[in-house]
Amino acid sequence: MEVQKLPRTSKPSLSPTLAEIQKGVHDSQSDMISDYSTPVHHQVLELGHACSSIPPSNPFVLSFDNLTYSVKVGQKMSLPICGKDSSLDSSETGKKILLNDISEAAREGEITAVLGASGSGKSTLIDALADRIAKESLKGSVTLNSEVLESRLLKTISAYVMQDDLLFPMLTVEETLMFSAEFRLPRSLSKSKKKARVQALIDQLGLRNAANTVIGDEGHRGVSGGERRRVSIGIDIVHDPILLFLDEPTSGLDSTSALMVVKVLQRIAQSGSIVIMSIHQPSYRLLTLLDRLIFLSHGQTVYAGSPGSLPEFFAEFGHPIPENENRTEFALDYIRDLEEIPGGTKTLVEFNKSWQAMKNAKNRFSNASKLSLKDTISVSISRGKLVSGAPNDSNSTSSPVLSFANPLWVEVMVIGKRSSLNAKRMPELFGIRLAAVLVTGIILATVYYHLDNSPRGVQERLGFFAFAISTTYYTSAESIPAFIQERYIFMRETAYNAYRRSSYVLAHSLISIPSLIVLSIAFATTTFWAVGLDGGFSGFCFYFFTIFCAFWAGSSFVTLLSGVVSHVMLSFTLVLAILSYFPLFSGFYISRDRIPPFWLWFHYMSLVKYPYEAALQNEFHSPTKCFVMGVQMFDNTPLAVMPLSMKLKMLKTISTRLGRNITSNTCAVTGTDILQQQGITQLSKWNCLWITIAWGFFFRILFYFALLLWSKNKKR
Ligand SMILES: Nc1ncnc2c1ncn2[C@@H]1O[C@H](COP(=O)(O)OP(=O)(O)OP(=O)(O)O)[C@@H](O)[C@H]1O
Ligand SMILES: [Mg+2]
Repeated sequence: MEVQKLPRTSKPSLSPTLAEIQKGVHDSQSDMISDYSTPVHHQVLELGHACSSIPPSNPFVLSFDNLTYSVKVGQKMSLPICGKDSSLDSSETGKKILLNDISEAAREGEITAVLGASGSGKSTLIDALADRIAKESLKGSVTLNSEVLESRLLKTISAYVMQDDLLFPMLTVEETLMFSAEFRLPRSLSKSKKKARVQALIDQLGLRNAANTVIGDEGHRGVSGGERRRVSIGIDIVHDPILLFLDEPTSGLDSTSALMVVKVLQRIAQSGSIVIMSIHQPSYRLLTLLDRLIFLSHGQTVYAGSPGSLPEFFAEFGHPIPENENRTEFALDYIRDLEEIPGGTKTLVEFNKSWQAMKNAKNRFSNASKLSLKDTISVSISRGKLVSGAPNDSNSTSSPVLSFANPLWVEVMVIGKRSSLNAKRMPELFGIRLAAVLVTGIILATVYYHLDNSPRGVQERLGFFAFAISTTYYTSAESIPAFIQERYIFMRETAYNAYRRSSYVLAHSLISIPSLIVLSIAFATTTFWAVGLDGGFSGFCFYFFTIFCAFWAGSSFVTLLSGVVSHVMLSFTLVLAILSYFPLFSGFYISRDRIPPFWLWFHYMSLVKYPYEAALQNEFHSPTKCFVMGVQMFDNTPLAVMPLSMKLKMLKTISTRLGRNITSNTCAVTGTDILQQQGITQLSKWNCLWITIAWGFFFRILFYFALLLWSKNKKR
């Protein structure tokens, strides 16, 4: 076997899969790389021909029996919290049956298409098969080779292509597919082979001309709608899944592109996969590529069989398809006509049942071989499927496939790389944050320029720190939309095990750190010297670290909220409402001993408290530095207006009364006294920082659990 080299313009033709190459051929990698780098020629490695040459001895059969699914109607609008979208409001309450006792089977090597009018239940059926409906709500069984499919296994061997295109707008087509390949393809495949795989996919999906164009969105021009659809398909088929579900993959495509896409799907099917898709009115040429059709009407099967049997079916039913008429069009129109008559489709449903029984259609799928599902999957992998096989261990009873193609650290790296690329393509997002921090820093620096150490200066310093620390939290709110926008992409990717949720949380946290460092430096440098804060260079370093910790805790808090609340406006409102209470309870506006006992818990939960106390301790650490001297005691009191001579006289009187000599140069309040007055007596400055950092970690852990609980991507 050898790798075919085809000119870029040539049509894709039969060639071995990567897996075959991986297994059998130890070709020179350098050769591949050098070939790949030439602009005119590249390796065309076809998708899915792993098993085509050898007929499968034990083909996969996905059977679904008596699938019934109903929803309650009449629920009130629910708030979009926890990833749930608002449900429909209906005047009646009751049950609506979306799938009604559907029994069928789909077989390896074939494309099974689900057809029906809009609202007939096509997407719902695909969701039910792809384990996207909660088990408690779905009645009936779905089995693969007569064994119940566990969710865990299904996730690893299947893929689901959604009706919507959820892609990163600023990545190019090639980058999008490459990231998907890095997530989904086994680690044992070299980078060059993954690249070759992506190039093959680009050719097969007809995306060559758009390969280097960004996906785009409402604000940026990008690829066309049809091209975007094909990219969405590409990212989910890059790993050649054993079970492939697609919801209307051809909608929005012109007939040539649709045909191109279905040909790719046919190839995947022929390589040993089961392909099930929903489709609206396939063209005549497209119909020839479909192996089995399931027509639905109001959630019931009205026909199931090959496209070739349609004329026979309708002839026997008493409504033969006229010559020269598109069969599926006729069938769909006829079904729609029946739907308009009350109880009209009932006769067709009944007829289909008896017709199925007569044809004994399901026997067609009986499994002659008695290999277990686990062994069948292992055989499939050894014959070239790109699902990551578990290490060979004959005694093991565990799953034959690895849950994830890559270890955690690889996933973290790939997610991190993708996030950095996205950030690089949209520098304005970080730019706006940096500008906001700089502007705030400059305003503070000019307002509090060169504060002195007088009693007034002390008050101003306290105000400066309270405002500065609160600002770091407010500017964190700007990153709310970041996760909310990514949320559905994240859900799509994690639903079929592209990567672990924990990898995402880790990568998300790590990638935020450099930007937080830049923001902290910007804020610390604009304010520290201008305001005239104390401590020299070491004081600056601690001040910078305090700001950084506040940014870290703030960004973690905002990330958690955006993971829990999926609506941008609601998130903003909540974040700002909560953030505005943090300064109130920080100890600046009201000291700890004056806070009512039933609010004291909020004081300890206030994220502003800890960095604020750390910054104050850094500023007023000195037990000898004086902030109020002799006559300054009268400042900020009605006695301040007295002439100096009178103030000195009063000092003398006080001295004789106290028996202590207090002159105009005697220090009345030191730094330590200020800390005492502010109630900063419980924690050292470093402990304050560790607690701030710990809050950040705590919110990130909660974010992980929020994702685990509320991003299941399942309907109830
Ligand atoms: N939560 C719900 N409450 C009430 N009805 C629902 C709910 N979800 C879906 N439906 C209804 O279930 C029916 C089947 O929906 P489904 O999305 O499966 O249709 P479809 O055949 O895929 O349609 P299309 O071709 O337009 O995509 C529709 O009539 C839809 O209105
Ligand atoms: Mg649909």
